[in-house]
Amino acid sequence: MSNMLEVRDLGAHIGRFHILQGVTFDVPAGETTVLLGRNGAGKTTTLRTIMGLVRATAGSVRLAGRELTGRRPFDIARAGIGYVPEDRDVFATLTVEENLRVAERGGGLKKRREFVFDLFPDLARFAHRKAGHLSGGQQQMLAIARALVNDNQLLLIDEPSKGLAPVVIERMAEVLAEISREVTILLVEQNFTMAAKLGKMCVVVDEGRTVYTGPMAELAGDPRLQQRYLGVGGQEAV
Ligand SMILES: Nc1ncnc2c1ncn2[C@@H]1O[C@H](COP(=O)(O)OP(=O)(O)OP(=O)(O)O)[C@@H](O)[C@H]1O
Ligand SMILES: [Mg+2]
Repeated sequence: MSNMLEVRDLGAHIGRFHILQGVTFDVPAGETTVLLGRNGAGKTTTLRTIMGLVRATAGSVRLAGRELTGRRPFDIARAGIGYVPEDRDVFATLTVEENLRVAERGGGLKKRREFVFDLFPDLARFAHRKAGHLSGGQQQMLAIARALVNDNQLLLIDEPSKGLAPVVIERMAEVLAEISREVTILLVEQNFTMAAKLGKMCVVVDEGRTVYTGPMAELAGDPRLQQRYLGVGGQEAV
């Protein structure tokens, strides 16, 4: 299978700190790849560096074979990558409809907009409500919807389950499974059960370096690997 994204020896500094020191992995087209690692491992920085929000000081990022390294965030987004940051970042004072319209490029894609409203009936229902008045779960759905209404081929999604109630997390997992039929996903997810359910391949980073890549099922089925790379007691995936 061809790779949607290829990240090679990525390095990045924040201030004088050398945060990424060699992150290497592939995101195969048409499936979900999960990016894991303990707190502070460099997951968010990896996504931000792919998007050009943090400048890469080494290595390269390619989208469907096209070099993205050194390009500006705007160009990288236009190349077809949607980024859903950790803090959601919806425009609180704009309505749901306005949030989506702002995100569309060149008029957006009708097909995608229909897909989004099918996927998130609440967003259709509350189209004219200000985003700041939605629940946390609805805001997270809106943040994902915004990354979907244009012609993005790849979504980078940072901890979509964070702060959500268990029932909303379950819904989120269903939605992401649905979305992955349409676009390729690189998912950062601390909820191991959800990560194991969604990920085909996984990448583990630690202290700014890739320490493991392989099938998600292999990591999920091996508590000793989890202990070694994620530092947790070893969690059985359900
Ligand atoms: N603006 C910043 N200034 C200084 N250090 C930073 C900054 N942003 C991130 N770091 C450091 O970079 C490292 C990686 O942070 P990053 O946010 O990428 O980790 P993460 O894997 O996403 O963690 P989490 O699971 O907590 O979200 C951490 O040690 C963090 O303290
Ligand atoms: Mg993070």
